[in-house]
Amino acid sequence: MTRMMAFANQKGGVGKTATALGLASAIVELGGQVLLVDADQQGNLTSGLGIELTEGQLTTFDMLRETREGVAADVVVASPWEGVDVIPADDQLAAIEVDGSSDLVFRMQAAFEGLDISAYSAVIFDCPPNLGRVLYSVLIAADGVVAITEPTIDGVRGVGRLDQTIRSVAKRGNPKLVLDKIVVNRRRTTKEHQWREAELRQAYGDVVATTVIPELAARQDAHSEQVPIHKFSRGKALTLQRAYRDLVNELPLTIGALT
Ligand SMILES: Nc1ncnc2c1ncn2[C@@H]1O[C@H](COP(=O)(O)OP(=O)(O)O)[C@@H](O)[C@H]1O
Ligand SMILES: [Mg+2]
Repeated sequence: MTRMMAFANQKGGVGKTATALGLASAIVELGGQVLLVDADQQGNLTSGLGIELTEGQLTTFDMLRETREGVAADVVVASPWEGVDVIPADDQLAAIEVDGSSDLVFRMQAAFEGLDISAYSAVIFDCPPNLGRVLYSVLIAADGVVAITEPTIDGVRGVGRLDQTIRSVAKRGNPKLVLDKIVVNRRRTTKEHQWREAELRQAYGDVVATTVIPELAARQDAHSEQVPIHKFSRGKALTLQRAYRDLVNELPLTIGALT
């Protein structure tokens, strides 16, 4: 079964988008395919893949405008990255946050209903940095959450709030939802970062991924050139390539023909 995973943290700038792109790159490197869903009105995932939306192109906004089972199939496109399909987004998605429809939070789930996603090793939702209706709609649709955090006090607090949100959604809307992993991103070798990482491991045990993603300029350079990190060779790209590959192996997904 292909797992639908929400990459989330209500705090912005912790690396949700960067990690989604890095892991997609690693999954393809390992021989798999991935579907990325841009669920953030900033559209950083979409632009990070090198996509410029054309007039009339369907986006996550169109997918959530109405409740229609399987509508995701109409919105998926191949991205410029080999092995990566995407449901793109732009700032139009903001309109969904103020849509008063009572069934709004169930629309993401409906959009994927009946869809054959078995060709993908994973479906990854890049979530917005707030606890709004789009995030809830993703949490209703997803099987698991990957919490991305920086080893800082605010990042750690964000994980705590997300953990509470997951419990609440699991109790009231999506009983299967669990916190799959906590990923420490942008780690430097400062005392503060070491302390916060230890604090997370103490609180969440082996839910915290053993693999930590260091803060390296190559991450930003590959992002601004809109290329997969596994196709990027400057700076410390190799360190990041290894880290994302190791991280894939810690996530509950299967790559290749065995799925
Ligand atoms: N491991 C990393 N090393 C260096 N820069 C990173 C790393 N992860 C993310 N960044 C940078 O940090 C900024 C915020 O990351 P982003 O993925 O956009 O965060 P979010 O999606 O959580 O808002 C971006 O400029 C991104 O390139
Ligand atoms: Mg983002």
